[in-house]
Amino acid sequence: MNSIVEKAYAKLNLSLDIRGRHPDGYHEMLMVMQTIDLCDDIKITLNDEGRFTAASNLGFLPTDGRNIAAAAAELFLKEAGMEGAGADIVMQKRIPVCAGMGGGSSDAAAVLRALNRLTGAGFSAEKLEAMGLELGSDVPFCVRGGTALASGRGEKLAHAAPLPDCDIVVCKPRFSISTPTLFRLVDGCKLRYHPDTRGLTAALESGSVADAARRMYNVFEAVLPRRYVDISAIKSAFMDFGALGTVMTGTGSAVFAIFDNTDTAAQARDALRERYGTAYLAKPVGKVL
Ligand code: C5P
Repeated sequence: MNSIVEKAYAKLNLSLDIRGRHPDGYHEMLMVMQTIDLCDDIKITLNDEGRFTAASNLGFLPTDGRNIAAAAAELFLKEAGMEGAGADIVMQKRIPVCAGMGGGSSDAAAVLRALNRLTGAGFSAEKLEAMGLELGSDVPFCVRGGTALASGRGEKLAHAAPLPDCDIVVCKPRFSISTPTLFRLVDGCKLRYHPDTRGLTAALESGSVADAARRMYNVFEAVLPRRYVDISAIKSAFMDFGALGTVMTGTGSAVFAIFDNTDTAAQARDALRERYGTAYLAKPVGKVL
């Protein structure tokens, strides 16, 4: 067999804090990350021509080495010493793009996991994470997934207790928000509020979804330009439906909420889909490697 299929799960930030800025321009992050069951399907077929392609159901994504999935395959095969080999990747994309849900990062991580099995290279999870960091700051988390406390650029991963089973509704409004712009806005101001990351991880440790949901916070929300007023409107709508907590994920524009009742969550999804275009029901997922 020279083909393999793999699922690439979306990530959410239960919390996102920025603790400082490094001389290289990257920011020191502190984030509680969570994998959910919304996923892309990835099929990888090796070729002997050294060709790297990435086709998908989304016509606007690059199909060559500029696609992070193809770049991941290229990096992996180089590290595995398989010069001359290439990979043709076909992706069924479901994770919204430019949403703060790690869609591209998760595709890249899935390619690393899948090629590790397909080629028998036998790299450790740590080695796959190190390769992932060359591709993007969120890729190392996506390699193993589950629940984790991420620091550094996002690549230093520490244990966090798993988010217990709950109903998650994710809403992606029609607009997207530029990641570099949001980081610049944070650089230009003094953040007054920070998430209670320790309280959040303690709530996870105690197994309380409600206590964890209540402590979700993302510092980027404090610097959002006025034109993104829909982010707070979506959060208000979620709270009106009885959400336990709601927050923007990453640099947005997706916003999610945690519910303790599946019927209410489904009602919220339907209402928000009608108002804002896209909304999904999801469940937490544990480690994938
Ligand atoms: O590493 P990645 O390519 O995912 O990062 C995208 C952009 O996000 C970077 O160019 C940088 O502007 C910003 N970033 C940052 N600090 C981080 C992670 C990302 O400033 N820890």
